[in-house]
Amino acid sequence: MKKNLPVDKLAVGMKVVGVDKSWLETNLISHTFTIHSQEDIDRLKAGGIKQVLIEASHPENTVKGSSDPAEDDSPKEIPELPSGKVQEVMSLQQETVLLLQKAFKQTRIKNALPTEEIRKHVRETVRMLLENPMAISLLADIHDNDDETYVHSANTMLLATGFAIRHQLPEMDCLRWGMAALLHDIGKTQIPQEVLKKPGPLSFAEWEIMHRHPLLGFQILRKSTDPDVHDLAAQVAVEHHERQNGSGYPHRLSLDQVHPVSRSLMVLDIYEALTAHRVYRKGISPQKVIRYLLDGHKDKVSSKIILELAAMVGIYPVGTFIATDTGEIGMILNYTDQENHRGETKILFLFDQDKTVLPKPQARLIPELTPEKILRTYDYRELGFSPEQVEMLLSKGQELI
Ligand SMILES: [Fe+2]
Repeated sequence: MKKNLPVDKLAVGMKVVGVDKSWLETNLISHTFTIHSQEDIDRLKAGGIKQVLIEASHPENTVKGSSDPAEDDSPKEIPELPSGKVQEVMSLQQETVLLLQKAFKQTRIKNALPTEEIRKHVRETVRMLLENPMAISLLADIHDNDDETYVHSANTMLLATGFAIRHQLPEMDCLRWGMAALLHDIGKTQIPQEVLKKPGPLSFAEWEIMHRHPLLGFQILRKSTDPDVHDLAAQVAVEHHERQNGSGYPHRLSLDQVHPVSRSLMVLDIYEALTAHRVYRKGISPQKVIRYLLDGHKDKVSSKIILELAAMVGIYPVGTFIATDTGEIGMILNYTDQENHRGETKILFLFDQDKTVLPKPQARLIPELTPEKILRTYDYRELGFSPEQVEMLLSKGQELI
């Protein structure tokens, strides 16, 4: 349970999971952090933050000396939790379940992916982690140090596992992909807290420190006796920030110099970071992120992988209103290849290039509707439709052609 708390009531050791300003207004790197000193509190006040959101069940988050009972709505009895490792494992399990639900919703996986298999693989990945003390302790570190990295890593694991399944890789390879994705930012555990959680923009020197996390991750994972962690996960950790045009780090490698899993993971990594909802900000829509990647990242990451990801997350399900590259606006009625959103696509065009309503809707077949041919998507309300009208268009449209 989360609760609001005035900044004045904050104390050292408390865990903050949100603030009363949007992410853009604060310049905070993360809105999930622990108060380490009075200076942290002063910095929040100086930034104009008056209220923060705290996790009431966090042991350090009991408001000491609160004279107003109304301000303290933390549970009267905090359930006794097992200590140490077991508690970390419990958190891991609980978080994974929540993240799984969230990731399904965010990426609309149910329209495009074999969800039963994904569940099975994630469950197996977690089991493998539970049996692997090295991985568990590393995950626990990430969780303790930076909730956002943990959430991001777990979400990226789900995407990577789904991506591997979609490529019909053997089950063991799917698990390897999942492990590599889950551990790709492990090097952040070695970044000093004052840099990782600095509530303000990083200096050039601090960015240089942040940019060490791929190499630090590599060094950590190379120590593992687990061959998958030692080999693939370590390589992916050091390569996931490389970019085709040499703007990446640490080694400025091109795409053909990195492992195929790293090539895919760098796309999934950016996609997850931009689409994910955080406590303090709403994620960008999958459609916008795919568009952004195709427009602005073609020279940095693989376009082929962006398009494969677009197909995987099923970003244009039946009933989606789109503007095609001709400028016309219509609604997707169906796909020949329903599962992959590929093949011929039947579109019910309703507006011409000038956004003028057509006298009569026109159903047409588009041979291969790739994301590149879609200029943008619309919410039906933007076009003045009601849910009933959308239903009617969907059923009447099927009769056309
Ligand atoms: Fe990273």
